[in-house]
Amino acid sequence: MLAICPEEGCEIPLLRFGAKMSRGQYPATRMRRNRMKAFSRRMLAEHRLSVDDLIWPLFVIEGEDKAEPVTSMPGVSRHSIDRLVAQAREAEALGIPAIAVFPSIDPALKDNEGTLAGDGDNLVCRAVRAVKKACPELGVICDVALDPFTDHGHDGILRDGEIVNDETVAVLCRQAVCQADAGCDIIAPSDMMDGRVAAIRAALDGAGHQNVQIMSYVAKYASGFYGPFRDAVGAGKLAGGDGKASYQMNPANSDEAMHEISLDLAEGADIVIIKPGMPYLDILGRAKAEFGVPCVAYQVSGEYAMIKAASANNWLDGERAMMESLLGFKRAGADAILTYFAPDAARLLAKG
Ligand code: PBG
Repeated sequence: MLAICPEEGCEIPLLRFGAKMSRGQYPATRMRRNRMKAFSRRMLAEHRLSVDDLIWPLFVIEGEDKAEPVTSMPGVSRHSIDRLVAQAREAEALGIPAIAVFPSIDPALKDNEGTLAGDGDNLVCRAVRAVKKACPELGVICDVALDPFTDHGHDGILRDGEIVNDETVAVLCRQAVCQADAGCDIIAPSDMMDGRVAAIRAALDGAGHQNVQIMSYVAKYASGFYGPFRDAVGAGKLAGGDGKASYQMNPANSDEAMHEISLDLAEGADIVIIKPGMPYLDILGRAKAEFGVPCVAYQVSGEYAMIKAASANNWLDGERAMMESLLGFKRAGADAILTYFAPDAARLLAKG
C-alpha cells in the first residue's frame, strides 16, 4: 500500500501506519478500556467546544420594541435595534466573543443596485453604532453583500441577466467603509465577487481602517441550506433560474475552494469562512490543514432548521445534536463557528 507523505510530498510505503497498527492487538489492546469511565473519556478528549468559539448571527429590523419570529427558524427572531442591543448585552453576559448583524430591509427601499448598502445611515450601520455604544468590547461582524438591499435578491448588481463583477465590487467597497465607520470590527464579504477582498482592503485602509479585520466567505457554496436565512432577511425568490450559481461555488468542488482561499489570503483576508458547515466539513479540514490560517465554519440557517425541526418532532435529542454538530466543526479544524445556536450552546457550556 502506498500513501502520500505530507512532509516530503512523495509516495512512501504505509510503514508508519503499519507500525502504529502493530502496537497492539486484541486482547492486549482493548480500545474500550479508555472509554470505560467518565473521567477517562473527559481526560482524553482531543477536542473541546468553548464559548470562545461561538459567533452569534442576529437579524435586525426597523422599529422599536419589535420582535418578529422567523417561521423557518424556531427560536430566532428579527429584532428592532433596541432589542438587538439587549441581545448584544446577553451575548456579552454569556461570554460570546462576537455577533454578526444581518438587516431585513423594507422592500420599498431596495433597488437593482442595492444603493442603500452604501449609505452610512442604513439600518445595519445604525444597529452597529447602537451595539458598539452599549457593548464596546463585543466583537461586531457585518456581511458585505448586496442581497439584503437588492430588489432581485442577488448579492450583486444585475445587468442583462448577469451579475456584473467589477461594478458590484465598487458598491461593496462603499458598504464596507460605511460599516467600518459605524464601528464594525470585522468586515465579512459574502458576495463571492472576484477581487473584492483586495478592493475592500484598499478601501478600508484608504479610510483609515487599517485595523478592521476581513473575514472572507472564501468557500461559499451555492447551497440549498440558505433557505430560512433568505426568509429571515426577506431576500425572497431570486430572479433568474440558476440561483447564485454564477458566483457561489459548485458543491461538487474541493480543489476550487483551495484556489479561492489562496487568492483571498493573497488579497489580504485575515480569516476565512467555509459555508455551509456540516455538508462541507471536508473543505474545512483541508483548509485548516493546507493553509494553517484562522478558519471559521458557518452552520447555516438550513442546518439549524433541520436540527430544530427534528427535535420538535422528538425525532432526535435537540441539545445533543446541537452540541455534537458544534464539536464536529472543532474536530474538523474550525477556530470559531457562526451558529444560531450560540446562546443555547453558551448556556449549556456554562452549566458544565
Ligand atoms: C448573503 C448571505 C447569505 C447567508 C449569509 N450571508 C445567503 C445567501 O448567500 O444566499 C446565509 C446564512 C444562512 O443561511 O444562515 N450573501
